Amino acid sequence: AGPCDIYSSGGTPCVAAHSTTRALYSDYSGALYQLSRGSDGATTTISPLSAGGVADADAQDSFCASTTCLTTIIYDQSGNGNHLTQAPPGGFDGPDTDGYDNLASAIGAPVTLNGQKAYGVFMSPGTGYSNNAATGTATGDEAEGMYAVLDGTHYNGACCFDYGNAEISSTDTGNGHMEAIYYGTSTTWGTGSGSGPWVMADLENGLFSGSSSGNNADDPSISYRFVTAAIKGGPNEWAIHGGNAASGSLSTYYSGARPTASGYNPMSKEGAIILGIGGDNSNGAQGTFYEGVMTSGYPSDATESSVQANIVAAGYAVTSLTSGPALTVGSSISLRATTDCCTTRYIAHTDDTVNTQVVTSSSTTTLQEQASWTVRAALGGDSSCFSFESVDTPGSYIRHYNFALLLNADDGTQQFAEDATFCPLDGLNGDGNSIRSWSYPTRYFRHYDNVLYVASNGGVDTFDATDLFNDDVSWVISTGFA
Ligand code: AHR
Ligand code: AHR
Repeated sequence: AGPCDIYSSGGTPCVAAHSTTRALYSDYSGALYQLSRGSDGATTTISPLSAGGVADADAQDSFCASTTCLTTIIYDQSGNGNHLTQAPPGGFDGPDTDGYDNLASAIGAPVTLNGQKAYGVFMSPGTGYSNNAATGTATGDEAEGMYAVLDGTHYNGACCFDYGNAEISSTDTGNGHMEAIYYGTSTTWGTGSGSGPWVMADLENGLFSGSSSGNNADDPSISYRFVTAAIKGGPNEWAIHGGNAASGSLSTYYSGARPTASGYNPMSKEGAIILGIGGDNSNGAQGTFYEGVMTSGYPSDATESSVQANIVAAGYAVTSLTSGPALTVGSSISLRATTDCCTTRYIAHTDDTVNTQVVTSSSTTTLQEQASWTVRAALGGDSSCFSFESVDTPGSYIRHYNFALLLNADDGTQQFAEDATFCPLDGLNGDGNSIRSWSYPTRYFRHYDNVLYVASNGGVDTFDATDLFNDDVSWVISTGFA
């Protein structure tokens, strides 16, 4: 059985079921998600390998070979047609064209399920999906449940990495107009014990960790690599459950009455569905989504326990984020451009600007050192990725900032560590490595007018130009000059 078969048996059927990793019904063999690739804009759909099974990741890998891919649609498996697509502007604009949010890279969150490769949805700040015309979801004070499987190591404190029920206008229409899972370290509204991340309920104008707004010590910090987060709500009752999606059972972090602050009892749910954003399209948060559902009716704790057992049995596990020629931690490397214009140019820096310069073994020692980088274990993000420390300025690393690459001293923050973590892949043009940002998997080291950026293929900035993209993002890595 799949999670939605279990909810059906419990009398609280799924009304939306989203996953890029697996079928959520034992007989589901339809589309899981749609991809669009950068080379020609073609789209394809990815389905399970067999009914009820894991996604066909090989089909994604061949469709996306030697180019970039975005996840354009996350299909609803419930039959209600509640598909998730690129979220529109609302109370806040997104960073993409016409104020839409960004789409996620298709390769940001590789995992295995019982040994079979699949891809989750790794959402950087600015990324969001929604369906503002969903059918069958709870409205008003109607009861519903929901769970999501998330990456408990990918979060931030911005508003709001959510999955669940939200406004149909993508604007804040008042207290009680949302009921969604939140995961992260926001302290603007509620908090739990420790410093987070926490599972909370986004009920609009408030992230709730328990009976009242503010701190509720029974809501623990949890950061399992794979987290199960569950919220349910009905007339004057709601609950938070959570646990390790790879083992064990769920715990109850809250179960009780609705908040007494005005507007939350009764609720005024509107029935839209959001992923990765707040109800008003607040889009500064980050997180990773593997699967999730919304139900009709208030699922019993017993039903949720059975769903958790099903998730654990799916066997989520980590896999490497890198491919291509291997890098050795501690070694000094040089990175040579492969675009026809520039094959004598190497990644170097001038003060804090990272650029390309013509370098040879006869260049000054200063320049040779400026064009040499020590490979370090990733400062943040995923341990299969790397950071690059300057040979001539120890303690300073290549990091992205406003999507330009800069050489900055490590300030010890989560932001810096994640900005300075990069994952080498097979070179997109067939040469060497392409080096993608861990925190923005749509973005790669790219030279543009001899300056380095983390660029996406066809994004809104000049340096995102599709022309020469594959060449500009492919680098031949050799022993460092110094
Ligand atoms: O409730 C927290 C957030 O407040 C909501 O997600 C958003 O709509 C509002 O900014
Ligand atoms: O480069 C994009 C973002 O810009 C970085 O993550 C952040 O440090 C800065 O705001």
